[in-house]
Amino acid sequence: MIEKKIVGEKAVEFVKDGMTVGLGTGSTVYYTIIKLGQLMKEGLSIKGVPTSIQTEKLANECGIPLANINEIDYIDVAIDGADEVDPQLNLIKGGGGALLREKIIARAAKEFIVVADPAKIVNHLGAFPLPIEVVPFGVEMTNKQIRLLGAETTIRYSDGIPYRSDNGNYVIDAKFPNILDPISLEHKLNLIPGVVENGLFNQMADVVITLNAEKSIVIKNAHEK
Ligand code: 5RP
Repeated sequence: MIEKKIVGEKAVEFVKDGMTVGLGTGSTVYYTIIKLGQLMKEGLSIKGVPTSIQTEKLANECGIPLANINEIDYIDVAIDGADEVDPQLNLIKGGGGALLREKIIARAAKEFIVVADPAKIVNHLGAFPLPIEVVPFGVEMTNKQIRLLGAETTIRYSDGIPYRSDNGNYVIDAKFPNILDPISLEHKLNLIPGVVENGLFNQMADVVITLNAEKSIVIKNAHEK
């Protein structure tokens, strides 16, 4: 999709020589990673910290050297996609199942840049089912607890068996009616035993790169809201 390519490639402007860069997961940040690989061939020097095994493979193919997250003090900039972005730049992420590593890496970054085609921009979060990573033990019980918060839920399957994240966990997709208070919901979900993390990324994005109705690039800055 051309929109994903435009916003994905624009994000490389936030990357400077010598930086450690969090590399997100998905079909939009794919274009960022490909472009970073091209720039490295022209002399850019960076290290990447991948948010998934899929992205680790892509970074290797692009010739981007990787840093071990346990051997660095911080990440200069993390770039990632989103499933939904609200006017406060709160996000739903995890459509690709990488939410836990994505959140660890976004939190470790001095600057978190989101690349989102216009279809991701919403007035209220919640049309997209919220991905929640849970441990396999007691998954049906954990599922019931999530439902008690008002969601319709499905345990994610892939090829006829429960989907497993890169961390070996299950993912429950939870369809809440409009999420009017994402900050409260993020906390309530993470208090349920069995929940490892959920895909609400509240007050984390510094910049969202998207397109307006005329297909021009728009840079939304959290600090200018
Ligand atoms: C993966 C994610 C992705 O960033 C999100 O699903 C958006 O993906 P895409 O850029 O393919 O639309 O959170 O876990």
